[in-house]
Amino acid sequence: MENKDKYKKLTNEVGAPIADNENSITAGPRGPVVMQDVWLMEKMAHFNREVIPERRMHAKGWGAHGKFTVTHDISKYTRAKVLQPNTETEVFIRFSTVAGERGAADCERDIRGVAVKFYTEEGNWDLVGNNTPTFFLRDVHNFTGLNRAVKRDPRTGMRSAQNNWDFWTLLPESFHQRTIVMSDRGIPASFRNMHFFGEHTFSFYNDKNERVWCKFHFKTKQGIKNLTNEEAQKINGMDREYHGRDLFTAIESGDFPKWTMYVQIMTEEQAKNHYENPFDITKIWRHGEYPLIEVGELELNRNPENYFAEVEQAAFAPAHVVPGIGFSPDKFLQGRLFSYGDAQRYRLGINHNQIPVNKAKVDVNEFHRDGAMRVDGNYGRTPAYTPNSYGYWTAQPEVQEPPLDIEGAVWQYDPKDDPTDDNFRAGGDLWRILEEDKKALLIGNTATDIAPTTVNIKYRHAVHCYLADKEYGERMTKALDLSMDKVIELSKLDNEGLIQATLSETI
Ligand code: HEM
Repeated sequence: MENKDKYKKLTNEVGAPIADNENSITAGPRGPVVMQDVWLMEKMAHFNREVIPERRMHAKGWGAHGKFTVTHDISKYTRAKVLQPNTETEVFIRFSTVAGERGAADCERDIRGVAVKFYTEEGNWDLVGNNTPTFFLRDVHNFTGLNRAVKRDPRTGMRSAQNNWDFWTLLPESFHQRTIVMSDRGIPASFRNMHFFGEHTFSFYNDKNERVWCKFHFKTKQGIKNLTNEEAQKINGMDREYHGRDLFTAIESGDFPKWTMYVQIMTEEQAKNHYENPFDITKIWRHGEYPLIEVGELELNRNPENYFAEVEQAAFAPAHVVPGIGFSPDKFLQGRLFSYGDAQRYRLGINHNQIPVNKAKVDVNEFHRDGAMRVDGNYGRTPAYTPNSYGYWTAQPEVQEPPLDIEGAVWQYDPKDDPTDDNFRAGGDLWRILEEDKKALLIGNTATDIAPTTVNIKYRHAVHCYLADKEYGERMTKALDLSMDKVIELSKLDNEGLIQATLSETI
């Protein structure tokens, strides 16, 4: 912190010196406090307003600053300056758990959020991802439900495995993600020891305005390391800030964590002929078919100076992209484009992008005016309207992205009606490549996690495992002490039939 001395002399909120910060002003030595102790009033009033709403999900998190350096040439796919060879860009990252509140313990079984803010020379690019390549859901309508199911029960105020697994198993598309969360990767040993992903399909366009679809992957250079349930329980009992402390300590001691960024590329033509919906976040693109292309290195090398200012007030929004990087028809991504800014307008206020951690390093000329807590001079006397005759606030058509052809009538399509939709292929593929010790962990972790639920929900999950891979289903059925005959019988039903057959405990 530069110039510590300037904080040494106490003043009030408008800079007047404070004479006494220990003794209230009272009527007589033993008398009551008087209203004219205005410093006391100011102190108490400020304190009462120091808590801001926590993030609705991903409330518990830790952050760090660093840099991203491009080591390989992908300019044939994208014109984004941040992705041109040898470019170095400052970044800020926030890691988080999803279900726990702001005071939750770090080492819970959960996915980990990883939000990266690239302060590029063309404005901020926020890549808001997770440590899994897929997600539980594919329609925004289900997002509210997911968070209510994994957070607290309205009656008891407690987390509920019943709610959680009931919701998950009613959505077969969550199967792959369920498998990952229950696997050894469900509790990373540290943020440094995990990969992370953009998950969605995004787009790139180059300087000839040619578009390709892409996915982002960040592979840890520290190696993957995970905790068992037993290790995590012990740690949570001793140090609820274990992952935050690990990250802070590593960076403080000069041991800077690094990740290699890769992209997968799919052409528009390939997307049209792909065997399943390439814009469905619950599907992955197999690496054998769409190989990882190396792009650059991300390094974290500076701890925040102040947790609240930089980590709690950080605001990431998938809507923030830069020229050369675009969205895709992924309807889940489309929903996120609205949600984050909206949450932050509530959580931090309309002018939250003026907070230093969120502020772009380039000039910002967004032409918005006024609003609570406007602190940047509000564009002074410049015209507040467009068009104007003075050349202010002119759009830049040279960054226009190529048009996107879309087919089809406006309607509420259910992906389950798509004959190419297979919700169990990716989870089955994952099971088949796991080594035996990992398979055993996956089965054991699931059995522990689902244990408090009613038997109908266990059947639903076991049937999904069986549909993904017979061995996976058989071992899950055994671990959950269910009838194999019943699982086989239920597996012959379609999704709606399975739901109907497993609605009640008297299955
Ligand atoms: C339609 C689906 C989704 C919606 C509506 C949604 C909405 C939100 C909202 C409102 C926040 C809190 C933002 C804030 O207060 O600053 C948040 C946080 C977050 N979300 Fe999502 N989310 C969705 C899906 C996803 C997916 C698929 C991912 C990963 C690919 C993801 C990753 C994150 C992360 C990492 C954070 C924490 C950001 C931070 O550290 O500040 N979310 N989400």
